[in-house]
Amino acid sequence: MGGHTLAKIMDIYILGIESSCDDTSAAIIKDRKILANFIANQHIHKEFGGVVPELASRAHQQNIIPVISKALHAANIHKNQLSAVAFTNGPGLLGSLLVGTSFAKSFALALDIPLITVNHMHAHILALFIEDEHHPKAPVFPFLCLTVSGGHTQIVRVESPYDMKVIGQTIDDAAGEAFDKAAKIMGLPYPGGPLIDKLAGLGNPAAFSFPHPQVGGLDFSFSGLKTSILYFLRDKLKEDKNFIENNKEDLSASIQSTIVAILMNKLRKASNETGIRHIAMAGGVSANSGLRNAFIQEQANGNWQVYIPKFEYCTDNAAMIAISGYYQFLRKDFADHSVAPFTRYRS
Ligand code: KG4
Ligand code: ZN
Repeated sequence: MGGHTLAKIMDIYILGIESSCDDTSAAIIKDRKILANFIANQHIHKEFGGVVPELASRAHQQNIIPVISKALHAANIHKNQLSAVAFTNGPGLLGSLLVGTSFAKSFALALDIPLITVNHMHAHILALFIEDEHHPKAPVFPFLCLTVSGGHTQIVRVESPYDMKVIGQTIDDAAGEAFDKAAKIMGLPYPGGPLIDKLAGLGNPAAFSFPHPQVGGLDFSFSGLKTSILYFLRDKLKEDKNFIENNKEDLSASIQSTIVAILMNKLRKASNETGIRHIAMAGGVSANSGLRNAFIQEQANGNWQVYIPKFEYCTDNAAMIAISGYYQFLRKDFADHSVAPFTRYRS
């Protein structure tokens, strides 16, 4: 019996493991349906204003087995029913990735099932294919995906679950980093993106204006925004030492609308240049309400058909690793037990 036929008549259960940054996560998927998805967040980094790699790897080591046990229990399946183990192979922090890699290899070896390596950035995009009432329609190929996270900002042309091409990317900071750095300047704790989003809902986006970067093609730049916020606040604080506290809602709304406008302008350009009107978003920053609203507006105006992931599949999670594992399983795209993680994005 061929592998393909086998895949069709059997239920496919995949354990997905994510440990690329500061969240340890495990998920179980049955075909494209999530049965369990648990995340152990690491609060330790808050007091340092960012992720401390050594503390992150240590916390992964503590969390990984409890999180996987919880996922298996919640999915109500026995580990012997698993068809394969999929894990994030990169990009990310080496020490963090090594924890997931070593566990996944040992588990696959012990259960004598295939091992699948998953690219974290591709997985953010494939999260849109999880079968969920919030994802009533899977994206239509080809589509463009704005993949925005704490480490990456990309416009990806997606031809199939197996064929993705980056057609634009940041030349310096990522969009999530822009949110987090702006928040840090305002004295907000890490990660500041979600806090800016919350405050922005209470403020006026036109209260302050910040310059847009001049970058060619479909690329982005966010480091200039951080500098202009820094200088703007330095001057304002000279006049009023409570300026940030008194204006935090308007500041957040203005910063958020600037970042969203920069992202949307390039995405419109990409859509015009490629003629592709099916547009998706993925990655942690796709949880941002300003960005989500801008997408909904484009659809309401009749310009695009948009695809927005459910909140829990935006920021780092293992469900996206499990769905990627499912697609790779169908193709028998299995890894050798000698694989090692990679830290920087590669396609
Ligand atoms: O994809 P992700 O969870 O981790 C990485 O792979 O980097 O993305 C995390 C990033 C952080 O920069 C965080 O501040 C940002 O996503 N983020 C947000 C929001 N939720 C998460 N940024 C703006 N608004 C949000 N609601
Ligand atoms: Zn991510």
